[in-house]
Amino acid sequence: MIRNPDDFFSLSNKVVVITGAAGLLGRKHAEAVAAFGGIPVLLDVSSSGVVELATEIQEKFDVESVGYSVDITKEASVSANAETIIARFGHIDALINNAANNPKMEDDSGKNFSRLENFPLKIWNDDINVALTGSFLCAKYYGYEISKNPNGGSIVNISSDLGLIAPDQRLYEVEGVSYENQNRKPVSYSVVKTGIVGLTRYLATYWPEKNVRCNALCPGGVENGQPEVFIGKVSNKIPMGRMANANEYQGALIWLLSDQASYLNGAIIPIDGGRSVW
Ligand SMILES: NC(=O)c1ccc[n+]([C@@H]2O[C@H](COP(=O)([O-])OP(=O)(O)OC[C@H]3O[C@@H](n4cnc5c(N)ncnc54)[C@H](O)[C@@H]3O)[C@@H](O)[C@H]2O)c1
Repeated sequence: MIRNPDDFFSLSNKVVVITGAAGLLGRKHAEAVAAFGGIPVLLDVSSSGVVELATEIQEKFDVESVGYSVDITKEASVSANAETIIARFGHIDALINNAANNPKMEDDSGKNFSRLENFPLKIWNDDINVALTGSFLCAKYYGYEISKNPNGGSIVNISSDLGLIAPDQRLYEVEGVSYENQNRKPVSYSVVKTGIVGLTRYLATYWPEKNVRCNALCPGGVENGQPEVFIGKVSNKIPMGRMANANEYQGALIWLLSDQASYLNGAIIPIDGGRSVW
């Protein structure tokens, strides 16, 4: 029964760990958590972005917030940070596994490294390390802390529409470039985003008796200064005819973190303007 609609999605006093918080969407996740009364704990590789962001959030939303420099691929760093958060707040209620590498397209040798036949093992390993090993380590330490709460909590994994469908490589082609130099969406992106779906199903069934729910969001591409030709081509593949605004994932995120999603577990939710339906 709804007693007070104002508190319906309240995250009051919930400590929410957000990885990759200094990035484009991480910042939006953090602001949404703060707007609903939660305590965003902001993690990123370098401390400068997240420490500033935490100060900004405290001032704007009048909630506690803190930023830490944590490389989520380093187990000792994640484990020590989980202890630091517990020492400071006493509990962790939610984890947003958001960090991933932005796909790289080329290096200085002149070859187009986005292509499978040129794709360096090092970039493959780095991409897998951040998105998959990092998410596993965060589940291992922050997720385990969540499982110790009397009422559990929520893990939200950020996948992608490309965790559900294959990239259409024609979108990345540029006129006038030879076939062997045409851009491709890197193979690692499809693999990590699909892997995140597997991790979501695993975690959804790992601590169910402790009330730890785990769900995945699969965002479509955010319009963010890409070339007009690219935006036009992608928009044509989306029933709603446009790319996303960076704030269009906040509503679903708050719902997933809140008690209003108390029976939602193992869901893989596309938010892509319908792209994966076509
Ligand atoms: N932006 C989009 O269009 C889009 C679309 C679909 C899915 N996504 C997904 O949303 C998530 C966020 O995307 P974004 O666009 O904000 O990316 P972004 O590149 O702006 O932010 C990613 C953040 O992760 C951080 N990071 C990288 N390695 C790290 C590590 N080892 N430890 C801690 N932090 C690390 C980076 O420093 C960066 O701040 C990603 O998982 C991405 O795949 C984004």
